[in-house]
Amino acid sequence: MKYLVTGGAGFIGSHLTDALIARGDSVICLDNLSTGNSHNIEHLVGNPSFEFISGSILDVGLVDSVVARVDHVLHFAAAVGVFTIVDKPLESLVTNLRGTENILEAAHKHGAEVLIASSSEVYGKNGGGPLNEESDRIVGSPLKSRWSYSEAKAIDESMAYFYYQEKRLAVRLVRFFNTVGPRQVGHYGMVVPRFVSAALAKEPLTVYGSGSQSRCFCHVYDAVAGVLAVIDSDATLGEVFNIGNDDEITIEDLAREVIEQTGSSSVIEKVLYEKAYAPGFEDMQRRIPDITKIKRTVGWSPKRDLSVIISDIAEFLRTAH
Ligand SMILES: NC(=O)c1ccc[n+]([C@@H]2O[C@H](COP(=O)([O-])OP(=O)(O)OC[C@H]3O[C@@H](n4cnc5c(N)ncnc54)[C@H](O)[C@@H]3O)[C@@H](O)[C@H]2O)c1
Repeated sequence: MKYLVTGGAGFIGSHLTDALIARGDSVICLDNLSTGNSHNIEHLVGNPSFEFISGSILDVGLVDSVVARVDHVLHFAAAVGVFTIVDKPLESLVTNLRGTENILEAAHKHGAEVLIASSSEVYGKNGGGPLNEESDRIVGSPLKSRWSYSEAKAIDESMAYFYYQEKRLAVRLVRFFNTVGPRQVGHYGMVVPRFVSAALAKEPLTVYGSGSQSRCFCHVYDAVAGVLAVIDSDATLGEVFNIGNDDEITIEDLAREVIEQTGSSSVIEKVLYEKAYAPGFEDMQRRIPDITKIKRTVGWSPKRDLSVIISDIAEFLRTAH
């Protein structure tokens, strides 16, 4: 099979590209290297099953010509990371809406199957129990950049779903919860690489707010296995699946675990949300995936726990370029 992975030089996209090539598929990676990094794919350069195209999903002509050459599009390119979204809200919104529309239109024109990488951010601040695919979205004002990201991902899902319903485009949707692992960088606001890199540098680990907010973290290798299971099944067409790990930990406990596991002398420092983000930034207290649907449909569940995640990230950061 020939795949286009948009955002294939990014964190999840590059691991997905590796996995596809390892099983014998060919991959074209389209990325503008805005948050992605050529180091993530440099080991693939020269491989006849791999091609890198530097360009944007906003370039309609380019998207059309690349999609015409593949059987499947795995759409991972997006403006991501809390800092990116807060710093460049307009550019982020345009990338996440218009970019996805370009992909869907080209896939429809050329008859390619599509998987859209959506996000648990679509659930907004619904902090009840485990969130299943039917859980309500609870979002704040669309004038706040965090919620405009949530809105964009939700509209992407709707648009893809209606292409499936009305135009019979073969569409699949996945909602990633916090996905972490090697190649993820901390400077866009991702908490685990930020903590691990601070611990390795023996600098303070900065916890925003009280630290009692909890999260669940899924190893990127598990997440990629989930994507492969979804794209390989006909039962997933026109459906949306949560992909995440349902082990929950508070951010303060995460900071402690990172310090302990890396043997660091770092201390934990708490700062007000308002100091870390723009005034009025809203966060949710909990976010836990319900992964019953993906388990039932394709038999996927995560295999790696937090200690594997921390040690893999630490290993990556110690040897990073
Ligand atoms: N990592 C997570 O925890 C997580 C959670 C929920 C959803 N997601 C989704 O998964 C996907 C991949 O995220 P990631 O964590 O790997 O982030 P990432 O920033 O590493 O990957 C995004 C990639 O898209 C590329 N890109 C951005 N704008 C582009 C454009 N206009 N044209 C071409 N390429 C462009 C970037 O350069 C980058 O390589 C995104 O759609 C994101 O919304 C990730």
